[in-house]
Amino acid sequence: MKILGIETSCDETAAAICVNGEIISSNLSSQEIHNKFGGVIPELASREHEKVLNLIVHKTLQDANYRLSDLDGIAVTQGPGLSGALITGCSFSKGIAFGLNIPIIGINHLEAHIFANFLADPSLLFPFVCLLVSGGHTQIWKVNNFGDYELLGETRDDAAGEAFDKGARILGLGYPGGPEIEKLAKNGNPKSVNFPRALLDSNNLEFSFSGLKTSLLYFVESDKNTKIEDIAASYQFAIIDVLVQKLNLAVQDTGFQSCVIAGGVAANSFLREYIEKKIPDKKIIFPDLKYCTDNAAMIAFLGEKYLKKGIKTNIGFSIMPNMRIA
Ligand code: KG4
Ligand code: ZN
Repeated sequence: MKILGIETSCDETAAAICVNGEIISSNLSSQEIHNKFGGVIPELASREHEKVLNLIVHKTLQDANYRLSDLDGIAVTQGPGLSGALITGCSFSKGIAFGLNIPIIGINHLEAHIFANFLADPSLLFPFVCLLVSGGHTQIWKVNNFGDYELLGETRDDAAGEAFDKGARILGLGYPGGPEIEKLAKNGNPKSVNFPRALLDSNNLEFSFSGLKTSLLYFVESDKNTKIEDIAASYQFAIIDVLVQKLNLAVQDTGFQSCVIAGGVAANSFLREYIEKKIPDKKIIFPDLKYCTDNAAMIAFLGEKYLKKGIKTNIGFSIMPNMRIA
């Protein structure tokens, strides 16, 4: 099957084509317009998607040497995400599906993040544990099979990516904050400041990052001696220490042999090293760096899986800004 995937849930406009489980072309345009605001401005995001989506889709078809008429189906992010941003991608995709009379499937962006791990390791087998860490979500999933998922725990407040973004803003760094903090942290001492690790002594798989952000704010206001590299490294360590300890708990509880990491924070090199060190006896899989943050390859890949099973969405579907994994 030749499936076109489209992703416009936040500030990345992306298209990709998947053919029998393989990504044969993938393009993406990151909206830099938000950088100066320190976060995504929803109205601007929708307008930017509308401006570039046609170009990105055409480039993706060109790279694959396909015409629109070669496509067998369309997969598009239905949610979660920003309403206006989702509407641009879904309306565009419905137009193509209607015009070509081909099936369309609305994809859950979070489920697609999990499945990006099959692009990194096609031999990955169910069941596995997934740590899903993005800008809006921090969750641990028990992934029993395709379509059979159990939520083991999630954050009570901020997501891990959000903690990076808000921390970066406090430190006067750019957006998105994760890569900025990671860069500085490479030259800092992670044990320099002992930032709090919430809910670690509770034996559950819930997270809380809002207190950490506040404690960074108080620290920065009261301390003028610690190097910013040391603060960044310590702050990053506090987020990642909690993620990895909770993940370890989930892996031990389930007894599963494999665990996968998904979402933008999975790009973090300290997280990658620390997991390998702390959970050495399990198979750990990370998506390729280009498929950690938002992309359309994961949408096309998951879309093809559904469409191959004959599962499609009625073309009258609505966007779901708060869509959850069923
Ligand atoms: O998955 P994603 O691209 O978008 C959402 O679905 O939310 O995740 C974006 C989040 C942002 O909060 C960003 O700061 C974080 O992922 N991120 C990182 C890194 N790269 C992106 N966090 C830590 N280290 C990174 N290298
Ligand atoms: Zn995402």
